[in-house]
Amino acid sequence: MKIFITRRIPQKGIDLLTSAGHDIRIHDSDMPLTAIELIQASQQVDYVLNGGMQKFDAHFFQHCPNLKALSLMSVGYDNVDIPAATRYGIPVSNTPGILSGATADVAFLLMLAVSRKAFFNHKRILHGEWKGFDPTAHLGIELNNKTLGIYGLGRIGFEFARKARAAYNMEIIYYNRSRNEEAERVLGARYVNFDDLLTQSDVLSIHAALTAATAGRFNRDTFTRMKNSAILINTARGRLINESDLTQALQNGQLWGAGLDVTDPEPMDPNNPLLNLENVCVLPHIGSATTETRDNMAIMAASNLIAASRGEQMPQTINKEIYT
Ligand code: DGY
Repeated sequence: MKIFITRRIPQKGIDLLTSAGHDIRIHDSDMPLTAIELIQASQQVDYVLNGGMQKFDAHFFQHCPNLKALSLMSVGYDNVDIPAATRYGIPVSNTPGILSGATADVAFLLMLAVSRKAFFNHKRILHGEWKGFDPTAHLGIELNNKTLGIYGLGRIGFEFARKARAAYNMEIIYYNRSRNEEAERVLGARYVNFDDLLTQSDVLSIHAALTAATAGRFNRDTFTRMKNSAILINTARGRLINESDLTQALQNGQLWGAGLDVTDPEPMDPNNPLLNLENVCVLPHIGSATTETRDNMAIMAASNLIAASRGEQMPQTINKEIYT
């Protein structure tokens, strides 16, 4: 079968596909494909494996009538119009579970880095501003026994909460569409309404999927209800936050700090004012970027397509109703 891979993925995934006898073409470039290039390349193959952040909309599915399946090397699928894929009979799979630990590590890293102004202090050294020991300058805040609020407590939120509880004995509160009984039992997590999440969290970490309902959920209004001493962490998707409202809230002292692994847009403009704020740490969407996790993601994405090529259901299919 012919497979188009939209961006170079770890070799382990490629080896799996070639050893299964598939004919592979890779878009081996830093430049994302245009919508037309993506359609043209996908029209010539049976399967597509998305290794980047390409968008797959209704227009794409309409113009690729021979496509048999789409496999994403990501857990998030906000870049795919799933209802359209279903309408055109295309199963779509993702890579859930295996990146939870690595992504939770980045949330933890950002929480700690923001609380101690780590990136800012690193820049001070680079700019020759480390003049000596100053007992009152650029002080951080401690995390011990503070309250961690999780917006969207799924696998990644659970991992982060587990680490924060073990390291700092943080009290865990969470807001979800449904109760997470395991988190309540194992971590003593407390289910709260959205307003209580905002008003009670010392650190509020976003782990929800980006949907029409969650886009812009964190904005001027929500920031005014949060503690002035609060830290906001986002390792989910940039568009959950209204970034200019966040900038203002940080500049006005309405929020204490923010740690972002995802921004809106990506890549972030290097002149973005957030990058110069003392209490802000930004990373370039590296949540899953470890060798182990990316290897596992590539293997899972490839395995999904191999199952599809054998006429089986892809194990991690998102639009499962397609098989009924
Ligand atoms: C994911 O898997 O969704 C990561 O954010 C990378 O896109």
